[in-house]
Amino acid sequence: MKVLVAGGAGYIGSHVVLELQQAGQQVVVLDNLQTGHRQAVNNIPLILGDIADEVLVGRLISEYGIDAVVHLAAESTVGVSMQDPGLFFTNNVGKGAVFLDTLVKSGVRMLVFSSSAAVYGSPEDMPIKETHPLNPINVYGATKIMFEDMMIWYAQIYGLRWISLRYFNAAGAAEGYNIGEDHQPETHLIPIIMQTLLGQRRRLEIFGDDYLTPDGTCIRDYIHVSDISRAHVLSLEALSAGEAGGIYNLGNEQGFSVQQVLKMCERITGQEIPAQISPRRWGDPTVLVASSAKIKSVLGWRPRYPDLESIVASAWQWHRSNPWGYKTE
Ligand code: UFG
Repeated sequence: MKVLVAGGAGYIGSHVVLELQQAGQQVVVLDNLQTGHRQAVNNIPLILGDIADEVLVGRLISEYGIDAVVHLAAESTVGVSMQDPGLFFTNNVGKGAVFLDTLVKSGVRMLVFSSSAAVYGSPEDMPIKETHPLNPINVYGATKIMFEDMMIWYAQIYGLRWISLRYFNAAGAAEGYNIGEDHQPETHLIPIIMQTLLGQRRRLEIFGDDYLTPDGTCIRDYIHVSDISRAHVLSLEALSAGEAGGIYNLGNEQGFSVQQVLKMCERITGQEIPAQISPRRWGDPTVLVASSAKIKSVLGWRPRYPDLESIVASAWQWHRSNPWGYKTE
């Protein structure tokens, strides 16, 4: 299969590219490098451009004979979505709509979309199944639902077959490939802990210790980025086998509190990590844990690195070897 990965120079995208290559697929990346990194894409075509550039997208689909698309090119910083909602509606929904339309009009009928647990908001039942009501508490989550809704209509009207993968907390790195997490600015827990270990931050701020959890800090379901990536390969295989597709949660079905993650990072690195309790971060749900039962039973997905220890160890390996991310200094 010839696969176009939009957003393939980003953190999750570059791991998806690697996993697709390892599965023997031919890959082309489209990325505007707004948050992606040129160095994250090696030995395959990287087309610099925007998903809303209809001429460019149409041309590369025909030139490369693209059969299927993975779409990860979107705004993803939750906090920013509540400060600048227009950015998210424009890039994730508006440009997303142009992209989707160009894909089908260029003959693409298979699409895997990068969605998020953020669609559920503050969930009522745990673990979260795909049938859980959608009640996003930020614009980011709302834009993911809007794109999923567009795919439903495109399936009905054009026969698009699509899969939406609702990721929980992506973390870690593919060891031995020198790709990893590098956001500017960084907002995610594990890389922030790593930056603290590397002396780039004075301490970790723990956002709230008065949640209704055993140690008072928020609980999340951390999933290795390579396991997320593997799910994209399985999704494309299912679509190309003629399956209609649908929505799948993607997590390890196990929650860890901020304090537990901190302790694990201390254990793996053998260093003490300075931390202080800070006020709650606005919009953080108390607990988010996935049910991945559906993707396991329908697509046969199994996590290869389900334990927090391997996730943290692989993240440390990346950050230690690349303390400033893809920058060289
Ligand atoms: N946290 C801290 N200190 C920090 C950073 C994070 O205490 O400096 C806490 C957060 O409050 C939260 C937990 O660590 O309780 C995880 O926070 P992240 O920012 O790493 O991740 P989120 O759970 O907020 O969000 C991530 C993705 C979203 C996705 C969501 C779904 O960034 O895109 O997971 O679970 F929607």
